[in-house]
Amino acid sequence: MSKLDKKKPVPTGKRRTIAARIREALSSSGKKQGRTLEKDTLALSVRLGQGEEGKELAGWTSPSYSQSKAIRLDPEVVLANRCIAYLPYTPETEAYRVLRTRIMHIIKEKGKEGNAIMVTSSLPGEGKTLTAINLSFIFARDFQRTVLLVDGDLRRQNIHKYLGCAHNKGLSDYLANGCPVSDLIVWPGIEKMALICGGRPVKESAELLGSPRMKELLSELKGRYTDRYIIFDAPPILTGADVQTFAPLIDHILVVVRAGKTSMDDIARALHFLPQEKILGFVLNRCQNAFNNYYKSYYA
Ligand SMILES: Nc1ncnc2c1ncn2[C@@H]1O[C@H](COP(=O)(O)OP(=O)(O)O)[C@@H](O)[C@H]1O
Ligand SMILES: [Mg+2]
Repeated sequence: MSKLDKKKPVPTGKRRTIAARIREALSSSGKKQGRTLEKDTLALSVRLGQGEEGKELAGWTSPSYSQSKAIRLDPEVVLANRCIAYLPYTPETEAYRVLRTRIMHIIKEKGKEGNAIMVTSSLPGEGKTLTAINLSFIFARDFQRTVLLVDGDLRRQNIHKYLGCAHNKGLSDYLANGCPVSDLIVWPGIEKMALICGGRPVKESAELLGSPRMKELLSELKGRYTDRYIIFDAPPILTGADVQTFAPLIDHILVVVRAGKTSMDDIARALHFLPQEKILGFVLNRCQNAFNNYYKSYYA
């Protein structure tokens, strides 16, 4: 990491520089671990722009649903919380569509197996939860796929807050209290999408995420629908052992980086704790004008 200023945050609007610097951090991290990093990990790197509030609802028709454990989302709450991919066509939704396409491409082309994807990042507040939610919405729009979104942050369960829905039972209730799987899964009124909330906050989250019961749940969920992507909103890597204990159980890892905030030092430190072969790539979140310029020039 010779030319990296460790304290300097990742700047916005400098795509090549960022890619080069992350690549440098990656290879430095790989060398230290004595592993070879996949050359094309960065093939996935996607820039997501700033979320915008108050998007128009025009053009969006709520899908119908018939399952018994259905909950209904309030579009205003969902959009106010920046879950923008709830809308089918906006520049931001397009960014998530690009992300989805690259994820599917990498998993297919590289012959990577498994359909459980963990969304994580170095520290809190970098956009993991929002990325996991928006990605799930967009995966559900792919007509060949279904998606299950799981709140795997057992200390700070936020998915139900962003979606404005109740969470009577969740993952921690299954892991710690023996609640049956059938009581966990709800349908948020979006076709082909199911949801497992986090449940009550627990302190022993790392132990629970790495437990045999979690392993059992994953193999049941993965085996039940083989065409289904399971997206886990995970805790930060550097604030506890949760991600380290959970990583061996999942198939793929997406690392969110907050533009202008996450330092290269934190990215490099975080990468030490991840199995490199499972990293699909990076999502550079909160880029200023990530897609606006393209849309302006293209449609002007
Ligand atoms: N692309 C974005 N644009 C604007 N705000 C964002 C974006 N991504 C995340 N945020 C905001 O940043 C805060 C933290 O996001 P969150 O997804 O909860 O982070 P994490 O799960 O990593 O802690 C939230 O208030 C969220 O609305
Ligand atoms: Mg979160």
